[in-house]
Amino acid sequence: MAENRKIVVAALPQGKLEESHYDLVTEPVPAPGDGEVLCRTLAVSVDAGARAGLQGSATYAGAPQTGVVMRGSAVARVEASNDASVSVGDIVSCGAGWQDYSVHAARTVERIDYDGDPADFLGVLGGTGLTAYFGLLAVTDPKEGETVMVSTAAGAVGHIVGQLAKIRGCRVVGVTGSEAKNARLVGELGFDGVANYRDGGFRQALKEATPDGVDVYFDNTGGTVLGSALFRMNQGGRISCCGVVSQYDTANPEPGPRGIPGLLVNKRLRMEGFLVFDFADRYGAARAELKDWMASGRLTAWVDEFRGLESAPRAFVDLLAGGNVGKRIVRVSD
Ligand SMILES: NC(=O)c1ccc[n+]([C@@H]2O[C@H](COP(=O)([O-])OP(=O)(O)OC[C@H]3O[C@@H](n4cnc5c(N)ncnc54)[C@H](OP(=O)(O)O)[C@@H]3O)[C@@H](O)[C@H]2O)c1
Repeated sequence: MAENRKIVVAALPQGKLEESHYDLVTEPVPAPGDGEVLCRTLAVSVDAGARAGLQGSATYAGAPQTGVVMRGSAVARVEASNDASVSVGDIVSCGAGWQDYSVHAARTVERIDYDGDPADFLGVLGGTGLTAYFGLLAVTDPKEGETVMVSTAAGAVGHIVGQLAKIRGCRVVGVTGSEAKNARLVGELGFDGVANYRDGGFRQALKEATPDGVDVYFDNTGGTVLGSALFRMNQGGRISCCGVVSQYDTANPEPGPRGIPGLLVNKRLRMEGFLVFDFADRYGAARAELKDWMASGRLTAWVDEFRGLESAPRAFVDLLAGGNVGKRIVRVSD
């Protein structure tokens, strides 16, 4: 009889996340009830934001818990269906979490009708790409000729943000913690400037990379990078608050940066947080546009893969240490 391997949260991290905070457990494959489907996971998403869920700082995710399957979006193949709207063999996206098999109400899975790799629905056509799309275009509405700065610029969300800003005709400056990542942003994606926040000369490098200041800052990090961005903002600038990855992997997040609210007042800045789910009714139109940009070669999706469900904890710990370039996924089955 087939077994279901599950990666469960064994303990909540007090300091940095470690692989030992997870256990791999095995149980029989669950059976779908009326109106439900059984899904076989093809690939799961590894998301920086999931660390906020374990920290308890992602209020939308509820209180962190042990003994539960690690949450995560997945793409999956339907193995059994007790609902007329979904057929065996359909490829779907679903909230399977880190496990081989999962049961879902049929109305909660989304059928993927797509010629490319279904795993794109974890990255550029999934929550990641949609976060970049709405967090940049809807929240800040960048104009041609403006300077857009983005942090975690070589990450899943970040590398899409930079390219969307280029498509809008903006000058794009990326911040990462790696010279190698920065070189790829300039060489492969056409970023106009870069700076490395781990380098002692970061503030000066950021100043040199943004000679005309910053009109739009897409903030994935909070912390030091946000603090530096605030001082580079032009009057009337917009800051899209997407996430706070610099403060997730710790029990002692730092207080917010200096200059709030003073700099917001003096420079007439708008600083706005968002969650991608806020835009759920516009996903279809956004995906169509993202697909067109990919097809025309204007948008490149970097995917960073681990293989095997058991590698998911390692993939996550490594992502938080900056090991990924582009969207990190774990391939679970073919
Ligand atoms: N608002 C929403 O609806 C929404 C949805 C999805 C994601 N998000 C947010 O988007 C952000 C990016 O998520 P992602 O999944 O695309 O992750 P990602 O950027 O692919 O990976 C995380 C990156 O964070 C960087 N990092 C780690 N520690 C850091 C630190 N102390 N300071 C600065 N950078 C650090 C690392 O890159 P470096 O090499 O550059 O350090 C790492 O590669 C996260 O804040 C996440 O919470 C928000």
